[in-house]
Order: sequence, then C-alpha cells, then structure tokens
Amino acid sequence: MLGGGFPESRVILILGEPGTGKTILCSQFLHSGAYGKGENGLYVGLNEPKDRLMSDMQGLGINFTDLEKSKKFGYIDATEVRRIPDQAKVGRIPVGGRELGLANLIDMMQDGIEKISPKRIVLDSASDLVFRFPKIEDRRPAILDIIESLQSTSATCLVTSEMQSTGEIRRLQPEEYLAEGVIILRIVRKGVRTIQISKMRGPRLTRPRDRL
Ligand SMILES: Nc1ncnc2c1ncn2[C@@H]1O[C@H](COP(=O)(O)OP(=O)(O)OP(=O)(O)O)[C@@H](O)[C@H]1O
Ligand SMILES: [Mg+2]
Repeated sequence: MLGGGFPESRVILILGEPGTGKTILCSQFLHSGAYGKGENGLYVGLNEPKDRLMSDMQGLGINFTDLEKSKKFGYIDATEVRRIPDQAKVGRIPVGGRELGLANLIDMMQDGIEKISPKRIVLDSASDLVFRFPKIEDRRPAILDIIESLQSTSATCLVTSEMQSTGEIRRLQPEEYLAEGVIILRIVRKGVRTIQISKMRGPRLTRPRDRL
C-alpha cells in the first residue's frame, strides 16, 4: 500500500477503536525491523507492563525474548505515567500531574533511546496522556512535545491513539493534524477489518484502503 513500507524517520499515527489491532501492528513493525533488517526497536508502553505485552505477542508468534537478550529490542514500562494524579508534587512543591507525566515520559524515552539506539520506536498509546488535556489549546502543545521528541531521534516512529469518533463524517483529532502520517484501523463488521492510509507525507500511495 505504501510502496515499500513506512517512510523513514517519520512520526506516524496509528488510529483505531479498541481491539482494532494497533498493538499487534506496532509489535510486528518492531519485530520485523529487528529480525529482518537488524534495526533496533524500542517499545514505550503506557497500556501494559512488559511481561503482559511479551506474552500476548508470543501467543501470536511475535517473539521479543531473544531480541531483548541481544539488545535489539527494548521495552520501557511507562504505565506509571498514567497514574500520576492531576495534583502531583515534586518534593513538597505542587506541580501539574499532566505536565509531570509528559515530562516523565519524554525522560523515560530518552533513557531507552540512549541504551538501544533504536531505528524504530513505538509509543503505545498516547491517548491516556493527551486526553488528560481536555482543552484543545493545551492538547496540541502536549502532542507536539511528544512528536518533536520522537522526531529528534531520526527513528521511524509509530504512535497509537484511540479513535474518538467513527463514520464517514467524523471529527478529526488534533494528533492527526500534527503527525506526518495517519493509518486508520477499523473493524467494519464482524470478521471484516480494514486498514486505511488517511495521510502520509512522502511516498506515493498504491492503495489507500485495503482489507486486513
Ligand atoms: N489482522 C487481524 N486479524 C485477526 N485478528 C486480529 C487482527 N488484528 C488484531 N486482531 C485481534 O484483535 C485483538 C486486539 O488486537 P490489539 O490488542 O492489537 O488491539 P488494540 O487496537 O491495540 O486494542 P486496545 O485499544 O484495546 O489496546 C487481538 O485479540 C487479536 O486477536
Ligand atoms: Mg493496544
């Protein structure tokens, strides 16, 4: 569909309702990069701890264990970022929990990037973090902070997010404007899944939408 895979060094949004296959797609992306091309992969997980992701993916034939041992795959457990309350403290000083969560996440990513030197990065998912900023004027800079810190790595990055509304005339989400590419995963009806390239700066597209 993309005529040769995701364009390199871009930040691409993977959008879909729950259960549409975002995590599987991202895992395959890292796994095939590390196995097939020797490209190191970093998974920044906000939804589930490492063991859960590794065993779920193992069940689908995506084995990260050997890759992790040979330092071709790294997992950052960022689940704690979601648990920071809105009113947090650094020492005794009250700080905004949302902003602290964002800063912590970016710090954690930098640590992982130094250790693994990834060519591919997955952030799964950005929703919990960005939806904590209900006002659009706060949410945009939060998303931009994440995107810019990923862009600075020159890795090819996939960021997942929950789709807020479906249907043909749905409202676009701010992360769709800010990412360099957008892939939408859908379950159209029972047993029918689709993948759609809704935006992609760079390559010429062969087919914008296909069945999975
Ligand atoms: N291409 C596919 N063909 C068949 N089943 C699939 C496919 N992609 C995903 N699934 C099934 O869909 C389920 C959910 O996949 P996955 O966990 O990747 O979704 P998700 O979008 O990350 O969900 P969530 O938003 O809850 O994190 C899995 O149990 C898997 O078996
Ligand atoms: Mg998921």
